[in-house]
Amino acid sequence: MALLAPSIMAGDWWNIGKQIEECIRGGADLIHFDVMDGHFVPNITVGPEVLSDISKRVKVPIDAHLMIENPDRYIPEFAKAGANWISVHIENVPHIHRTLNFIREQGAKAGVVINPGTSLTMIEEAIRHADFVLLMSVNPGFSGQSFIERSFDRLSQLRQMRDQLNPDCLIEIDGGIKEENIAEAVRLGADVLVVGSGIFAHPKVEDQTRKLKEIIASAKAI
Ligand code: DX5
Ligand code: ZN
Repeated sequence: MALLAPSIMAGDWWNIGKQIEECIRGGADLIHFDVMDGHFVPNITVGPEVLSDISKRVKVPIDAHLMIENPDRYIPEFAKAGANWISVHIENVPHIHRTLNFIREQGAKAGVVINPGTSLTMIEEAIRHADFVLLMSVNPGFSGQSFIERSFDRLSQLRQMRDQLNPDCLIEIDGGIKEENIAEAVRLGADVLVVGSGIFAHPKVEDQTRKLKEIIASAKAI
């Protein structure tokens, strides 16, 4: 069954511990942790110290999505802080093969992220070496943006590439995934669904997480 990864940047930082517990009670499989530096993307979030405080208290794996310049420099810190999955953008990593290996050497699953405006051919080679590919379905930087419809065509293409080049590589999708389109994302081959506002904009985080898990459970990949 596909995995659900609530993106906590869409949550309420005042109550984040409580909200993470609610997601986990609702069946979250991973906690998606967005790291932004105000340079690679026009927003700033949190770093390894916050990740460490969370990882000490939760049992589900933490999926760190690095939207920062020079991610190589910070990979060891995020791994040490307890990130179990770490992904970097193809758009700002010049030596992706080396970086993916570096992430794995630190004991985490290694992922490559691709923005909506970047051709999928850019990750054709990296896919062979990645544990997962993260397909952005919004331009990275903010929660609560609308899903870019073209992303579904790209998801289908990516699925074909993955099946051909590295069937063990998981496909994660991030941005604008909600109750209305999550089943279609699973149908087209997403293995990991990141959901921010589609969970945290709801007053009952636990119920909403459970509801999305039920939709995922009844959807089937084609
Ligand atoms: C956007 C982040 C996402 C974001 C998703 O740059 O990578 O993880 O929080 O939020 P929604 O699901 O609201 O688009
Ligand atoms: Zn993300």
